[in-house]
Amino acid sequence: MAEHNDFVVTPWEVSGEIDYEKLINDFGVDRITPELMKRLEGHTGTLHTLLRRGLFFAHRDLGWILDEYERGNPFYLYTGRGPSGHTHLGHLVPWMFTRWLQEKFGSKLLFQMTDDEKFLFNPGLSLEETNSFAYENALDVIALGFNPNKTEIFSDIDYCKTLYPLALGVAKKITYSTTKAVFGMRNDSNIGQIFFSSVQAVPAFLESVRQGRNIPCLIPHAIDQDPYFRVARDVLPRLGYFKPASIQGRFLPGLAEGGKMSASIPESAIFTTDTEKTAKKKVMNAFTGGQATVAEQKRLGANPDICPVYHYMTFLFEDDDTKLKEQYARCKAGELLCGEHKQILAEKVAAFLKSHQQKREKAKEKD
Ligand code: TRP
Repeated sequence: MAEHNDFVVTPWEVSGEIDYEKLINDFGVDRITPELMKRLEGHTGTLHTLLRRGLFFAHRDLGWILDEYERGNPFYLYTGRGPSGHTHLGHLVPWMFTRWLQEKFGSKLLFQMTDDEKFLFNPGLSLEETNSFAYENALDVIALGFNPNKTEIFSDIDYCKTLYPLALGVAKKITYSTTKAVFGMRNDSNIGQIFFSSVQAVPAFLESVRQGRNIPCLIPHAIDQDPYFRVARDVLPRLGYFKPASIQGRFLPGLAEGGKMSASIPESAIFTTDTEKTAKKKVMNAFTGGQATVAEQKRLGANPDICPVYHYMTFLFEDDDTKLKEQYARCKAGELLCGEHKQILAEKVAAFLKSHQQKREKAKEKD
């Protein structure tokens, strides 16, 4: 876990101004080097925007995953979602990246909905609620266009008959002192929370169990989930499986000043279920790196580095590097005013939502 004076990153809390350099140290993950990117690009042809821009920036054993792949031993992908509410744009970031990996490597994907986790960690949520959000969130996953023949989405509750015996095997190898050290479990933590990390480890070897031979697993995820997979990497070899590899991304900042997008502050995030009107309004009300007045902004320029409008462009809405650079420069020079920048973003967000929501509706026909 990473708890600093100015920021906190744990699987349950992400807040403050995150220093990603410090996180690399805290978690002991490796940076994605230019060499590794080249190697990836050799297989994928192009680099995904999120990789090119360093927004997926760290990994564990990615080199090994590519060694195995090059040796004719392809990997499967595993990612997931804790269904505590509706999906917002920040959630889509690692999923879109995962979709790209699936397409480029032809990988199978296991997508875990941890309705059990969100029940155990959120005092206000019932199991019925988290299970029903698992369904709602799955519609967003499907809408992103994963290959239906190579993708399995399951809720822990619904799939427990398969998961539970495997989770028990993992749980037997994790001591209480490990969960205390890694997750900060305390004497007053409920005992479901203490057990839960074993459930999130299961999809990292499930495909090996099914096929009766070891298959490499690559987990794309936002970096807050690393503690889970650090434990999984410790335990799985002791059960005779490979350590899972991972590739880790940053958080899409919230529309309010500082921090991640938070489902608990609805104005700070755009949900996939928001109407175009609501979404546009959220963009137009966003915090920016601008000055107090137009005159000042023209004179002094604005600060795109702290601006959610610019960050949204970087993460999701401006793929063209030249155009993005131009926005950055014009913003700094005081030529691009925040109102205009927001307007451009609002249109892009509305267009995305329109198309996403159509696909989301269609997804309801699938099981
Ligand atoms: N615990 C994650 C969350 O709260 C959900 C999750 C389960 C997950 N398995 C995963 C996320 C694998 C990334 C990768 O969102």
